Amino acid sequence: MSDKPDKFIDDNGLRLDGRRVDEIRPMKIDIGVLSRADGSCYLEWGKNKVLAAVYGPRTLHPRRKQIPDAALIRYRYNMASFSVEDRIRPGPSRRSVEISKVSAEAFEPVVLTKFYPNTVIDIFTEIIQADAGTRTAAINAASIALADAGIPMKGLVSACAVGKVDGQLVLDLNKDEDNFGAADLPVAMTQDGEITLIQMDGNLTQEEFKEAIEMVRAGCMEILEIQKKALYTKFGDDSSFDLTEEDLSDIQADEQLIDEDADNPANEDDEGIDEPEDIDPDEKKINEEEELDGESDEQ
Ligand code: CDP
Repeated sequence: MSDKPDKFIDDNGLRLDGRRVDEIRPMKIDIGVLSRADGSCYLEWGKNKVLAAVYGPRTLHPRRKQIPDAALIRYRYNMASFSVEDRIRPGPSRRSVEISKVSAEAFEPVVLTKFYPNTVIDIFTEIIQADAGTRTAAINAASIALADAGIPMKGLVSACAVGKVDGQLVLDLNKDEDNFGAADLPVAMTQDGEITLIQMDGNLTQEEFKEAIEMVRAGCMEILEIQKKALYTKFGDDSSFDLTEEDLSDIQADEQLIDEDADNPANEDDEGIDEPEDIDPDEKKINEEEELDGESDEQ
């Protein structure tokens, strides 16, 4: 680990990497980089390098894990052993399990899971190179991979962190600012500014906290524009990513219909798309093995 710098912000108000306090690192997005995934994204953000792959919606096995009126969002955050200075032990850790859980929850308010009962939407994120802000980088990449997979969503999710160094709030912490700073506050939000993930390390006063939220909101909105631009460049500038009020009320009406359908006792026998004949024999074998060793979770 590098030594703590004497100062994080110079007399001109610039940080060690030359950024202003409210400036995010440069972000680059490539869409559809993995041919086997339904949707994928490679994202670079400063020195962070992240891959996201989305599979599904596909029938969830084992069946006892199915949600009868919605798709399950399963999210995996993983840091490659070589992504950090000190090699990371491969496999899940307390940290990666926690990040996976809260990141799945960050997408639940936007993904229209009710349209795909009994299924799973798998989101895999792999950190190839880490330099602070990897959970937010992974969420930004996952959001694009979901769009690339054609998963219906109310909008994109954008994420960024804010923190405090030298007694000042700074947007999008780099590694030194994260390691030696007084606070780290990663946030994810919808395009309407609804917060879907918030975590915090360190301390901020109430005033600082309010200011930090405004700062990170501006950061997320800037990232949203970068995400949209990447999608427009790939798929054409037809504005179909911008849901109108009318689109949202159509979605709400559809969701209501699905709810009413589920509540109707006449549909009780309807087991949805999960007929046993539909299961690929190979997949069935894998699922049986998973059931046997109790290792069906992909976390
Ligand atoms: O990456 P993020 O800011 O979301 O998570 P963190 O737990 O605050 O980690 C900050 C940074 O510390 C990571 O981005 C890595 O660069 C580094 N780190 C590490 O070197 N080894 C770990 N086991 C975990 C994090």
